[in-house]
Amino acid sequence: MCKNAFAIKGDIVWSKTPQELATMEGGYLVSEDGICQGVFSELPERYAGVPVDDRSGMLVVPGLVDIHLHAPQYAFRGLGMDLELLDWLNTHTFPEEAKYRDLSYAERAYDIFASDLLHSATTRAVIFATLHVEATELLMDKLEATGLCTMVGKVNMDRNGSADLCEESAASSLAETRQWLADVEKKGYERTQAILTPRFTPSCSDDLMRGIGELRAEYGLPLQSHLSENLSEIGWVKELCPWSSCYGETYEKAGQLAGDAPAIMAHCNWCPDEEMEILKANHVTIAHCPQSNMMLSSGIAPIRRYLDEGISVGIGTDVAGGATLSMFRAIGDAVGVSKLRWRLVDDKLAPLSVAEAFYLATAGGGSVFGQVGTFKEGYELDAVVLDDAKLRTPRDLSLAERLERFVYLSGEGGQVAGKYVAGRRVL
Ligand code: GUN
Ligand code: FE
Repeated sequence: MCKNAFAIKGDIVWSKTPQELATMEGGYLVSEDGICQGVFSELPERYAGVPVDDRSGMLVVPGLVDIHLHAPQYAFRGLGMDLELLDWLNTHTFPEEAKYRDLSYAERAYDIFASDLLHSATTRAVIFATLHVEATELLMDKLEATGLCTMVGKVNMDRNGSADLCEESAASSLAETRQWLADVEKKGYERTQAILTPRFTPSCSDDLMRGIGELRAEYGLPLQSHLSENLSEIGWVKELCPWSSCYGETYEKAGQLAGDAPAIMAHCNWCPDEEMEILKANHVTIAHCPQSNMMLSSGIAPIRRYLDEGISVGIGTDVAGGATLSMFRAIGDAVGVSKLRWRLVDDKLAPLSVAEAFYLATAGGGSVFGQVGTFKEGYELDAVVLDDAKLRTPRDLSLAERLERFVYLSGEGGQVAGKYVAGRRVL
């Protein structure tokens, strides 16, 4: 009998291709040493006797991967969404983030965040913290304890912050980042990784941008930031970096995109052609954040175009630009805004289907963590068990229809009834 193997039995749904779902009713999803061995209609002979988590009647789907959200902003989610980006940052976001200098506040806020993320359908996430080293490490400790796999970034910002939320200089920001990286190395987390996090070009002097590019080359670290989210922001970058041909070039020229580690750019609502070429050439992953783009009136990203161009795309909740951690809500919003864009902006770019948006929210974003986000043999075993019993209907539904309803109706009583991350049960 295989020692580190187990199976989950249930109504299994996963992405066979970026366009197509595969399903198996009453199937067995098998994990060995944290790696998916596939989905089977009967438990294969070689796994006879392994523990079986019997979730018959419930949906079992790949864990959701949220590749862009801000942990400190969770405290004011659902508030203050009536401004555009730059005013929203100054009015709501910077004052909230400044509070994380106080570790007792950070402790209370990050307890709530880590617990709510654990109980959501998200198994992996790529997260902004704040510029504070101690609070960022506290967040990383709490996330490590959940068993979720995350990338967490201490934010770099040395200009255009507020009086109480801005680093003194590029040199001090880089020194604090090195200190943080050394601390993280010492802590030896298993499931929590450091990711370089220049907030966005308007927050980082040219010296800081270059210094972060050098850190990326030196440490081979992943990197996350924001790109072409809002038209005023894009105009400001042009003023701050008159030498640049486009916003994306400010990251590229600083050396922040080159290299093998993932680079994730959130939003990309308004990328001109040359910026798209930069994203493509550097294998950047786009974090599509549809709810935030609606609520901050930022725009509608042309996701179909990016997919047609072969650019990698995942989905982010962008809390607190988006109000909720629900990746199901994000999938539904990605479908919805793609339809509005098709109707109002460009009828040559077909809307996304639920199956396509589900792929982006699992395997699409999962690719920044390696082989993650579907139930193909060889992928890391991340799964969530979804109880849709409360979403009542007299109709007989296919498994794909049950998933589709969960996307749109989970807020009406859909439950996350279990969760596995890299082969370990966390819920
Ligand atoms: N651009 C720079 N900082 C932020 C932030 O905190 N949220 C969003 N949505 N965009 C940003
Ligand atoms: Fe963001």
